Amino acid sequence: MKSDLKAKRNNWCEKTVKLAQIEEELHRRVKEIFLKTVPRYYEHTLKVVANIKNIMKEIDASEDRTVLLLAAYLHDIGYSVAYRGDYVGNIGPQALRTRLHSDVGAKFAEGILKSMGIEPEIIKKVSYLVSVHHQQDIEDRYLKILLQADKV
Ligand SMILES: [Fe+2]
Ligand SMILES: [Fe+2]
Repeated sequence: MKSDLKAKRNNWCEKTVKLAQIEEELHRRVKEIFLKTVPRYYEHTLKVVANIKNIMKEIDASEDRTVLLLAAYLHDIGYSVAYRGDYVGNIGPQALRTRLHSDVGAKFAEGILKSMGIEPEIIKKVSYLVSVHHQQDIEDRYLKILLQADKV
């Protein structure tokens, strides 16, 4: 019984350390991308991450914290694409919002997470959340949490 508890605690510690390492690397990358393109979105992203961390304190331990945290970091990464040379001047605000912000943002997020060696199942979930994160009418628990954190 005691060793069971010990094994559970070790497992929890390993997961926590792994998530902290992933977060550190993702934070570094997101910061670099936004500071070169739209710095105000770096500030916004940090606020959303702080909010989601607060929400995570309240939710059940079985919920997928990795998915929520990664989605918070990447949800608006699509805005940075608009500032790449091939898009500048070729796209209006509405197209920017819909096409780049969600669709291209989801693909961009996927690429970042793949290059970091994140498990495909997690990438799929995060990418989905990024692609729909402005649609209020979808019934998805994680999406609701992300939308709540995004209200800043
Ligand atoms: Fe957004
Ligand atoms: Fe946002």
